[in-house]
Amino acid sequence: MKTEIGIGLAGFGTVGSGVYKNLIRNGALIEERTGVAFAVRRIAVKDLAEPRKVDAPDELFITSPDDLIADPSIRIVIELMGGIEFPLKFIRKAILAGKSVITANKALLAEHGKEIFELAKEKNVAVFYEAAVAGGIPIIKAVREAFVGNRFESIHGILNGTSNYILTRMTDAGLDFSPALGEAQKLGYAEADPALDVNGWDAAHKAIILASLAYGFWVEPSKVLVEGIEKVTASDIRFADELGYRIKLIATIKADDKDEIEVRVAPTLIPKSHVLASVNGVFNAVAVRGDVVGETLFYGRGAGQDPTSSAVLGDLAEAAAALISPRESCGFATHDLYGECKPAADSISKYYLRLGVEDRPGVLAQIAGTLGGAGIGILSVIQPESHTEGSVPLVLTLHDAPYGKMQTAAATLASLPCVKTEPLLLHMESFS
Ligand code: NDP
Ligand code: HSE
Repeated sequence: MKTEIGIGLAGFGTVGSGVYKNLIRNGALIEERTGVAFAVRRIAVKDLAEPRKVDAPDELFITSPDDLIADPSIRIVIELMGGIEFPLKFIRKAILAGKSVITANKALLAEHGKEIFELAKEKNVAVFYEAAVAGGIPIIKAVREAFVGNRFESIHGILNGTSNYILTRMTDAGLDFSPALGEAQKLGYAEADPALDVNGWDAAHKAIILASLAYGFWVEPSKVLVEGIEKVTASDIRFADELGYRIKLIATIKADDKDEIEVRVAPTLIPKSHVLASVNGVFNAVAVRGDVVGETLFYGRGAGQDPTSSAVLGDLAEAAAALISPRESCGFATHDLYGECKPAADSISKYYLRLGVEDRPGVLAQIAGTLGGAGIGILSVIQPESHTEGSVPLVLTLHDAPYGKMQTAAATLASLPCVKTEPLLLHMESFS
């Protein structure tokens, strides 16, 4: 028996128009597989006059997303507008009206996931969000369902397509930062505000969602260490290469033996031999280690119209299944088996430190003495033969140390008269 389900699209930009296009392309196939025909009843946009790259009948377009909620023929609303306050109100209203919700809005979920899912639970309404993390990779479904029998030991991911694209273009084509970002924007990968891509926060929103799902409580954004790629230079990429590493924006999520959680997003040196080092361009990858399954790896396009709409279509099928056979807990299950997020200052790793120093005898000894005095051991030193504005670069790799202690030592180094540029401190990850 075939069932028809009416859906409403809030947003017809990169993702929204992709969902419509691919629903036309594969709707019959989806109907064969799921027994459900999805009928787009209305599409809400901001500006009716905006030219559209994907054709849809004019009569579908409206400018008030609330009309999707008011329409009794619409049972599933898909929020693809972006932003925070407006979509939050929209999703709240949709849940209160008993509509199933699908969203790709990671910023919204990272900041308001707790209240959204509490309300959804209270009203017994499903909220799905596969497209919010890692584009086309079905990582939400994997963490929520396929790995339900595992404790998560760690999740490491490249979760932002734009920044990975930029780093790849800087590494492989020697492009500067700005033209590489311009390319990513043209390709539809970047956020409406691309600052979120380059300052690490888009990846952090996704890491918050994954960590919350893996550990059963909503992680506070203020507990997450977030650094962006904007401070990484072409020279750092070269120095890392000499040391046998690639620089990637890595999300690190792990539980320690006291069940405290660490969530960090930062440009990180990873060994060239590690599989994440060869994840390039817009591709994302997520390495999940569970106590039962061991190591797993998920790989695919992390941004862009088609991969993201593939994730939304998967959610549509799931939302339809939940409407046909209602079940409890659709979307997010909380539990209190894990405690807190530990302070970023307590997280331990090795480090890459780049300084611009005076080119005179005794400087290296002074730097080594300062680090030694702070209890931080040096692993290796490289001093390439190049000068920039009265200083020479000095690159050190440093033994495991708590991040707080390392930051204090970097600040002490920055205050030395022989140090001429702001130190750049990056994490190094060995995945052990
Ligand atoms: P776009 O900016 O391309 O599209 C946004 C759409 O929402 C536009 O059609 C816009 O209308 C409409 N819109 C915005 N505000 C309103 C409003 N108040 N009322 C009605 N319509 C509104 O964004 P994307 O498609 O790139 O992203 C959408 C969401 O998906 C975001 O949350 C984003 O973070 C997320 N996402 C994006 C990915 C990507 O690769 N682009 C990947 C994964 C998630 P109009 O066209 O008239 O301006
Ligand atoms: N701007 C995001 C990225 C879109 O580049 O990864 C996908 O979430």
